[in-house]
Amino acid sequence: MTTQVISTIAQAEAGTSLAADYIRKGELVAFPTETVYGLGANGLHEAAVQKIFEVKGRPDDNPLILHLSKKSEVRDLWDTVPRQAQPLMDNFWPGPLTLVFRRSARVPDAVTAGLPTVALRMPQNKTARALIAKAGVPIAAPSANLSGRPSPTKAEHVREDFDGLIPLILDGGLCRVGVESTVLSLVGKPTILRPGGITREMLEAVIGPVALAESVLAPLPDGQAALSPGMKHKHYAPAGRVRVVTGAPEKAAARILALARQAEVEGLSCHIAATTQTKARYRGWPHTLVGDRDRPETLCANLFALLRETEADLILAEGIPPADAGLAYMNRLLRAAGFDVEEV
Ligand code: TXA
Ligand code: MG
Repeated sequence: MTTQVISTIAQAEAGTSLAADYIRKGELVAFPTETVYGLGANGLHEAAVQKIFEVKGRPDDNPLILHLSKKSEVRDLWDTVPRQAQPLMDNFWPGPLTLVFRRSARVPDAVTAGLPTVALRMPQNKTARALIAKAGVPIAAPSANLSGRPSPTKAEHVREDFDGLIPLILDGGLCRVGVESTVLSLVGKPTILRPGGITREMLEAVIGPVALAESVLAPLPDGQAALSPGMKHKHYAPAGRVRVVTGAPEKAAARILALARQAEVEGLSCHIAATTQTKARYRGWPHTLVGDRDRPETLCANLFALLRETEADLILAEGIPPADAGLAYMNRLLRAAGFDVEEV
């Protein structure tokens, strides 16, 4: 199979029409969203959804998100409707918030991995919504990466993983948010299963207290069932190892430099994830400016590209306080590091 890449900046209409044809025929297409690229299939078509699991190498106990183009489309897909649903949809849809509800009988088992719940999201990206509207069905879409690899924030990342395996990639340029959507369960008390583009603080301003699943900042203890099955699988792994150093910027930078020198002695190549606050300290060492510690959303936007594009044996990164967008950043960074984290 040859994989066609169509720029939705140059050819929005033609690109989304062709992609919608593929979706209707039960094929897979990759498309941009404001968070990361998605690998989409007709979400009401069991066999099409199965293809996602095959192509990604995704464990079959990890359910998928159904993407909608209009809020009214939730009606056929959810069963009981919790009272927090409407204010959350009013405030954050379209946008990087996925809501988990009890599901209706219409949702195929392949989407929910057999769970009694379904995850729904209405993306903000216009190409994504045009594609869903033209396809005329909810689109089941995980991030468009091979299972275990960092999520793609550029069409080029999708091509690295799926060239020759899917017929079409819609190239919408760089994803704005850079980490996946927040997954909030509304089954029982509202609980964040995965932090993301919409922060806990933003959610609490609308519906009051929101709990955090234990697995957000810690590895799952062996044998414990995950609320969100995706959290128990290995995630975001770059080519080399990642080590995280948390603490005040100056102290963290000093420790990172010590680790870089040690790596050099051991003959390992290393790369430092720098911040605006510490960049000058890393002069003379291979480093990339990821973002600003005081605006953690900037760190989120660039993390996956760094993990994917850096070939060093060791990536050294500063940890930041897990508040606001810092929570999503630390959730992804700690997983990429396999929880190899040190506090100074
Ligand atoms: O931003 C995003 O959410 C991107 C774009 C493409 O929309 N999609 C994405 O999908 O990140 P994926 O499959 O990589 O991650 C979906 C997460 C997984 O952790 C999965 O376990 C969880 O959502 N999830 C899906 N359905 C669920 C359900 N019924 N209950 C609990 N967690 C669920
Ligand atoms: Mg994913």
